[in-house]
Amino acid sequence: MRLILIGPMASGKSTVGRRLSKRLKLDFIDVDEEVEKSAGVSISWIFDVEGEKKFRERESKELINSLNTNNCVIATGGGVILAEQNRSLLKKGTVIYLETSIQTQLERTLNDNKRPLLQESDNAEQTLRELKEIRDPLFEECADITIKEGKNSHNEVVDEIIDKLNLK
Ligand code: S3P
Repeated sequence: MRLILIGPMASGKSTVGRRLSKRLKLDFIDVDEEVEKSAGVSISWIFDVEGEKKFRERESKELINSLNTNNCVIATGGGVILAEQNRSLLKKGTVIYLETSIQTQLERTLNDNKRPLLQESDNAEQTLRELKEIRDPLFEECADITIKEGKNSHNEVVDEIIDKLNLK
């Protein structure tokens, strides 16, 4: 089994992914963390010094590496679905899309200094809206299962995923 979480920034992919992996006794891989580990620097540093294009290359490489593991939950970064190659790679797992409203994203990223796309922007809401317009159709295209926003806690989201996967 290989479960892959996709969705916009601050949709809870990492937290939900980690908890889901514990519940199902699977390994957990966070692609953003793998990028940071292999580069030895933070994502903000990579965006700042190397630029977004280089970050996307690193992200694709770590996505490919993560797919060598079986029986795992993989949390991806919000922009992973931009590259067509990545979108086809996602077919190697069951893709779970965590749909999230702009309002929730804004609340969760209020004091965030880890997301360069928001740090660089002087209007976070507008930036999130622009990203949403481009990315939502791509998330939908890739998703096998969509978790609609409405569940309040990350644990409820985990329960809903387990339910939808018929693993109970
Ligand atoms: C990005 C999302 C981030 C991270 C990078 C770029 C994006 O991951 O990969 O800052 O393009 O939306 P999260 O979705 O975990 O915030």
